[in-house]
Amino acid sequence: MVDLAIIGGTGLTSLKNLEISHREVVHTPYGEPSGALTFGSLCGREVVFIARHGYGHTIPPHMVNYRANLWALKHADVSRVIAICAVGGIRKDLLPGALIIPDQIIDYTWSRNHTFFEKDLAHVTHIDFTEPYCGEMRSALIDAAQRAQISVATEGTYGATQGPRLESAAEINRLERDGCDMVGMTGMPEAALAQELEFCYAVCAVCANWAAGRGGGPIDMADIKANLSRSMAQVRLLLEEAIAHC
Ligand code: HPA
Repeated sequence: MVDLAIIGGTGLTSLKNLEISHREVVHTPYGEPSGALTFGSLCGREVVFIARHGYGHTIPPHMVNYRANLWALKHADVSRVIAICAVGGIRKDLLPGALIIPDQIIDYTWSRNHTFFEKDLAHVTHIDFTEPYCGEMRSALIDAAQRAQISVATEGTYGATQGPRLESAAEINRLERDGCDMVGMTGMPEAALAQELEFCYAVCAVCANWAAGRGGGPIDMADIKANLSRSMAQVRLLLEEAIAHC
C-alpha cells in the first residue's frame, strides 16, 4: 500500500533519502507518463515518485502528459499527492526562494489535454473546482512547515500560463489584476485532472524568480536554477516532515 505520491517539478527530479524498492513503467490509455514510477520508503512511509519533466528534465511544461502521469499514479493505488511546482513571484512577499502552499488557481493554458471526461461517457461530468486543492493535504504541508520551522506562505493564487516562454511584463500586470500571486506553467491541467481522479492533491510552489517586470531586469535562467537548487533543501525537509506525519 503506497501512502503518498510526489510529483517532482523543476529542480526536484529525485528524492535524496528515498530508499528505492523498485521502478515501474506504466503504459496508460492516455499515452506514456514522464517516466517510470519510482517506489520506495521515505521516513517510514511507502512513497511513489515521478519527475514531471522526466528524470533528465527534458519535457517542457506544455508537452508534459499530465493525464498519463496522474493515471499512472492512480494505477499505483495511491490517493494522496503532493506536487512541487516552480513559480515566479508576483506578490511582494513572494521573493525568490519563498515556498508557498497555494489555495487557488487561475488557468491561462490552452490546447493541453485537460480532462479525462471526453469520450465513452455514461453521462456528462462537471467536477466542482471551487477549491482546487485538497484542504487536508494543504494543512498537512502547512503543519509540517511549522514543525520544521520552515517559512511558507499559507495562501496564494497560482496563475497557470502556457509557456514555454516566460511572460511579458504586461501579462504579469494583467495576472496581478486578476488576483494571481504567483505564475507558473505546470499547475494546470494537473490540479483539475487530480480532482477528476479524486486525488487529495496539493502543491508546494517554489519561487524561482521575480515574475517578468518585477525584478528590475530580464529573467536570468542561471539565477532561476541557482535559486531553485538553494530552495530544494527546504522543500526536501518539508516533504519529509509532511510524509513522516501523514
Ligand atoms: N513564469 C512562468 N513560470 C515560471 C516562472 C515564471 O516567471 N518561474 C518559474 N516558472
